[in-house]
Amino acid sequence: MTRIITITLNPAFDIHYHVPQFAVGKENYSTNRTVDAGGKGVNISRALAASGVPSLALIAMGSENGRDFCTMLEQDDIEYVPIRCEGSIRYNVTIHPSSGPETRISQDSFQLTADKLEEIREKLIDLIEPGTLVAFAGRVPKGISLPTIKSFLQSLKDAGALLLLDTNTFLLDDIIDIKPWLIKPNEYEIELLMGREISDLSEIKAAADEIHRSGVDNVLVSLGGQGMVYVGHELSCRVAVPQITPLSTVGAGDSTLAGYIFGYVKGMSQIDTLKSAAAFGTAACLSHGTKPPKPEVIVELREEITVLV
Ligand SMILES: Nc1ncnc2c1ncn2[C@@H]1O[C@H](COP(=O)(O)OP(=O)(O)OP(=O)(O)O)[C@@H](O)[C@H]1O
Ligand SMILES: [Mg+2]
Repeated sequence: MTRIITITLNPAFDIHYHVPQFAVGKENYSTNRTVDAGGKGVNISRALAASGVPSLALIAMGSENGRDFCTMLEQDDIEYVPIRCEGSIRYNVTIHPSSGPETRISQDSFQLTADKLEEIREKLIDLIEPGTLVAFAGRVPKGISLPTIKSFLQSLKDAGALLLLDTNTFLLDDIIDIKPWLIKPNEYEIELLMGREISDLSEIKAAADEIHRSGVDNVLVSLGGQGMVYVGHELSCRVAVPQITPLSTVGAGDSTLAGYIFGYVKGMSQIDTLKSAAAFGTAACLSHGTKPPKPEVIVELREEITVLV
């Protein structure tokens, strides 16, 4: 099977406190606390693992609390390669009241140095074979310059990787330079990328088409409850998803990427690969927090997804 690698340079412990009555400036009592090993690359690997597809998660880890992170990855059956960095992995806290909005507290992470990135690059080059799928998702850590990360990604491509990019670090010119195999902007990110307001489906399709013609093989724009727009070599289409009541949309986009990878490595047709991507994304909304989409939910949803060419 095609080798799959996910890269996480910005991991975090995602801590969720359920606080029925949350009041600012008061002592608050939590009825339930969950802790997950988070980060966009990790989420993709977790969604694949839950559907029985192994991948390798390459993760930059703060050495002070990396052990706990590894234990959680092992519980989720995620195979990983840790790159130890000085400092700690950050803790992101979300407070969930019974009603009303969630409150988030995010921390800064350890610093990833250019030397560490070089160590990661060398490790990856050893692991990549022609056709290896490599997913790079999430923010580029502070301290790493744009030219450095671009040449990092370029060298993975030169080694034969099919690069899946999901980050809003880049402008369109950078994307055109890198020419990833796939990008997955959401509604907001496609506007950032194009540097203009995009107001309807036909404009989204035109933007995706423009990016595709500049050399990106697969342009997948995810649109939340509106599904997705896709432009690639074989077809250009809209993918409609069923209406659901989401439990949590956190990490839905990561699951979309996992679903695309799932379809691709299983040798599905382009249309079925897109249905797989949409089903994983929507199924992720029916799991709590960053819990991976359940295979039985994915199978059920697939039947309700339509591809409109
Ligand atoms: N409200 C919803 N109803 C049905 N499906 C949804 C909903 N929200 C998201 N999805 C599914 O998840 C996919 C990805 O969602 P979205 O466009 O919100 O990703 P995203 O903004 O990149 O998310 P994140 O970066 O938080 O992981 C959609 O294409 C769709 O399949
Ligand atoms: Mg996203």
